[in-house]
Amino acid sequence: MEVFIALLCVAVVLWLAWRWKQTSVFKKLGIPGPEPNLIFGNILELYEKGPIKCHEEWVKKYGRVLGYYYGMKPVLLITDPYLLKDIFIKDFNKFINRETFSPIHRYNPKNPHSQSVLNLPGQAWKDVRSILTPTFTVAKMKQMAGSINSSVDNMLDVLQARAQKGEEFEIFDTYQRLTMDVITKTAFGIQTNVQKDPKSSLLRATKLFFVTNYKDPIVLVALVFPLFRRLCIRLQEFIAMLMNNGKFPHKMLVGGIKKVIQLRRTNPEAKKNDLLQLMLDSSIVVDATETDVSKLEAGNTEVEKLEAEKKETTDKKIRKMTEAEIQASAFVVLLAGYETTSTALAFTTYLLSKHQAVQENLYQEIKELIERGQKLEYASINKLPYLDKVLNESLRMYPPVHL
Ligand code: HEM
Ligand SMILES: *[C@@H]1O[C@H](CO)[C@@H](O)[C@H](O)[C@H]1NC(C)=O
Ligand SMILES: *[C@@H]1O[C@H](CO)[C@@H](O)[C@H](O)[C@H]1NC(C)=O
Repeated sequence: MEVFIALLCVAVVLWLAWRWKQTSVFKKLGIPGPEPNLIFGNILELYEKGPIKCHEEWVKKYGRVLGYYYGMKPVLLITDPYLLKDIFIKDFNKFINRETFSPIHRYNPKNPHSQSVLNLPGQAWKDVRSILTPTFTVAKMKQMAGSINSSVDNMLDVLQARAQKGEEFEIFDTYQRLTMDVITKTAFGIQTNVQKDPKSSLLRATKLFFVTNYKDPIVLVALVFPLFRRLCIRLQEFIAMLMNNGKFPHKMLVGGIKKVIQLRRTNPEAKKNDLLQLMLDSSIVVDATETDVSKLEAGNTEVEKLEAEKKETTDKKIRKMTEAEIQASAFVVLLAGYETTSTALAFTTYLLSKHQAVQENLYQEIKELIERGQKLEYASINKLPYLDKVLNESLRMYPPVHL
């Protein structure tokens, strides 16, 4: 019995010592910040005040650069715009790797789900990224305009029907259907009935990835007791499965993506000029020698410059995207393509309804464009400077994604 108690004491002391070490990272580096708790880090204060207010208070108290602990996870909070510019642009080569989408997941080189453009590190990220970039050129966007236009027409039908009935409705849901419709058509070349089908299983499964309660108890446990992280992830997946009529949403969506890929491969006439095809046909020239990520800089022109330089080097090999990279990146594009844009549109609509004078100005700008005999289409979007301002301000006030 005594031996057991002694062992238990040693275990507790070791455990606390580990936590103490974990929560002293910033102190050792001389970075200021709120005093962490050995069990919770600073997460209780974050929960209590909400992240935005809490960050504001900390910045006032500790300055523009500070460190805090999200559970046991050290977080360096940087609010100096010049420093941020350096991190994102000048010194980007030292900050290539991104945090996982969920705070409790980690990049795992052996896990196929980790192989997306969002999670891949270093050179592998760069390879995949350079395959996806051509999707967003002006020429490709112009090609997509017709598709997007017809999706918007569909949304207008839905709005018209609602207006006639005079019923109240949630605009966010309407926008989510619109952007889901657009991304499935433009990136994967498939038609869905997501705008008109109230019970769309595609939308139900996709939405589940964004039901993230900031104070989710499962996330809290995983952050505070990293030992239970995997267990918590399994539990999350299980709950999502229950909410998705017994199907794991991730498996279901990736399953759909696999089917579309299969169709393209076995069916040469199905070949399209879209993002999926770019990934399937990918072949990138990469250096056979060591990676040179250290030379990377952010911003398209820089990347292109680097690409051109690379083509001149002699020692190179061709690499295709792996199956895991294609599937995982397709999944990310599906999520990223629909959630962000619908969130931005919903906030913009909310703000316009709150600021009627701004709405009126915007209305006049668009009206004048049409009165000048121009159409509302890709080319004319650039001729609406007020619309640009409205969108920029809405994105500034309510950014759909934070880094
Ligand atoms: C208003 C709309 C959008 C916002 C606010 C937004 C925001 C962001 C942010 C903040 C990042 C991270 C950038 C970084 O770490 O430096 C990102 C990355 C990404 N976004 Fe978006 N996004 C939007 C629309 C879209 C759309 C429509 C797509 C797909 C068609 C998309 C696909 C991606 C992808 C694939 C990445 C990862 C890029 C990489 O790792 O190289 N996003 N987005
Ligand atoms: C978009 O739709 C509108 C009205 O339905 C039409 O006038 C316009 O030409 C279309 N634009 C494109 C690029 O298809
Ligand atoms: C809106 O933001 C974009 C991207 O940062 C920028 O290029 C553009 O000049 C901004 N427009 C206005 C009107 O500020």
